[in-house]
Amino acid sequence: MNNHIFQFYGRRKGRGFNRVNKQLLKLNNIDFFLKANDLKEYNSFSNNILEIGFGNAENLINFSKKYKNINFIGADPYLNSCLKLYKVLTKLKLKNVKIWSDDIRKLIEVLPNNIFDLILILHPDPWPKNKHKKRRLIQQYFLDFLAKVLKKNGKILISSDENNMKSWILEQFHIRDDFDWHIKNINICNKKPFCLLNSKYSKKAISLGNKNNWFVYRKL
Ligand SMILES: C[S@@+](CC[C@H](N)C(=O)[O-])C[C@H]1O[C@@H](n2cnc3c(N)ncnc32)[C@H](O)[C@@H]1O
Repeated sequence: MNNHIFQFYGRRKGRGFNRVNKQLLKLNNIDFFLKANDLKEYNSFSNNILEIGFGNAENLINFSKKYKNINFIGADPYLNSCLKLYKVLTKLKLKNVKIWSDDIRKLIEVLPNNIFDLILILHPDPWPKNKHKKRRLIQQYFLDFLAKVLKKNGKILISSDENNMKSWILEQFHIRDDFDWHIKNINICNKKPFCLLNSKYSKKAISLGNKNNWFVYRKL
């Protein structure tokens, strides 16, 4: 395992953190939480979907209820969200989701190559200002990581409601020759893919009158 130190700029703790942390520490031994050295079951012959930064996990829960034969990994370093998701999965007896309660970059480094059919990244980066560019998750080295773990023809579905971020995402993918923009008509980017629910941040954008866009990239 490589030991890069990734600088993470977001929040890991929320309200009631001590209680959340205590519960998570107890839960970390159980099956729902993914360990970096416990990845044998992930292979390119099964259907695997990764959601990065699941937040309130509206889509992860909805997908995992609908598609019981697909394996899902949900990654989010915000521990309150992880505990909340764990409780829902337990209540609904959903066994096809594993939670990675840390920075996704630490996991991707050690995941096998070519295993995901789809990677969801919804409203990833709250860093629209130019001076915070370096803090954004979407960077060239990160797209190298995603390319490594996606299967050929695997897709990345990424959304944003912030104009600087939309341009940034388009630029970052545009300069690569290992992804193509899976688009036949520009209007497609304006429509929420029918399979998705509105996440917390996409609802927030709608309530503020901001425009959500969805971009789909395919690994060549
Ligand atoms: C703006 S919120 C969007 C949440 C949700 N996807 C939505 O659309 O409502 C960004 C999420 O990404 C998570 N995040 C930020 N950096 C991350 C990283 N390096 N690895 C995994 N998740 C990350 C944050 O903790 C947060 O939950």
